[in-house]
Amino acid sequence: MVLVGFMGSGKSTIGPLLSKALGWRFRDLDRVIEAREGRSIPEMFRDDGEAAFRAKEDEIARELLQETELVLAPGGGWSCREGRMESLDEETLSIWLQLSVEGIWRRTARRRGERPLLDVEHPQERIAELLAEREPFYRRAKWWVNVGRHSPKQVVRLIVQQLESNPERPLRA
Ligand code: S3P
Repeated sequence: MVLVGFMGSGKSTIGPLLSKALGWRFRDLDRVIEAREGRSIPEMFRDDGEAAFRAKEDEIARELLQETELVLAPGGGWSCREGRMESLDEETLSIWLQLSVEGIWRRTARRRGERPLLDVEHPQERIAELLAEREPFYRRAKWWVNVGRHSPKQVVRLIVQQLESNPERPLRA
């Protein structure tokens, strides 16, 4: 299972709750990258540039996506490359954690400095621009859950219920 969605949409909060509810493992891709590289994401962006980070991100995601019974939370940019969502195999359920610009703005307020793409002079405009570019990719996820409307616990409940009752039907919540 892969959780996609913009920075601040709750991938790293919902992912562990969901994996616990399913009895699966959870991996936060950014944390795996940082542990393997021995440095933080902002350091990687600063020292080697975004392209080098994206290459590493792709390489490690491919490896982790081989695992079964795994909830993977990649960073918000991973899914937004042509062919990424399509590269997921049939069994891998992709879920978009959908959130508005305002919701993202609020939820990223405290830790924007840790996100190089939002560490800019006008972060709200940047969020709006990036979200507009990225939504077409996020929409390719099989299931969508609006995380502005539901608490993390409710999101987990909705996903688990649908998995148990009607996993073939696209969830739109
Ligand atoms: C990024 C999102 C970040 C991190 C990096 C780039 C993006 O992860 O991978 O700063 O391009 O949206 P989160 O979505 O977990 O903040």
